[in-house]
Amino acid sequence: MSQFNFSALIDSAIKARQNSYAPYSDYCVGCAVLTDNMLYTGCNIENASYGLAMCAERVAVFSAVAAGERMIRAIAIVGSPRGDEITDYAYPCGACRQVIAEFSDKDTVIVVAKSLEDYKIFKVEELLPESFTLA
Ligand code: THU
Repeated sequence: MSQFNFSALIDSAIKARQNSYAPYSDYCVGCAVLTDNMLYTGCNIENASYGLAMCAERVAVFSAVAAGERMIRAIAIVGSPRGDEITDYAYPCGACRQVIAEFSDKDTVIVVAKSLEDYKIFKVEELLPESFTLA
């Protein structure tokens, strides 16, 4: 998977980010999840009741799981303050790392991207070592 061409996955995350609803933080995040069957996307969705904000990663992962998926092969995340230019590597928050771990295996790849050409690749174990599991 580390030899894989991640362009299509990152491009989907960039496009999903355009739907970000972030009027409170102005921080816009997009995410794309690749399974053996399909590609699923998500964006962050905030709320006037601030604590109800939902991260792009969990929107995308839960969408995949709700469609019957159980195994993420790769997940791309693109996040930055509002605007077309992506200035950050937006690493997944702790809660999202735990959720990603639930539906991952040792080969699952997390792609943190600024553009189609500029990205970093991690295994889930690197971003969430010694994760809690009941399996
Ligand atoms: N956010 C994500 O979508 N993913 C993360 O992993 C971290 C944070 C969102 C939540 C909120 O809408 C905004 O970024 C600022 O925290």
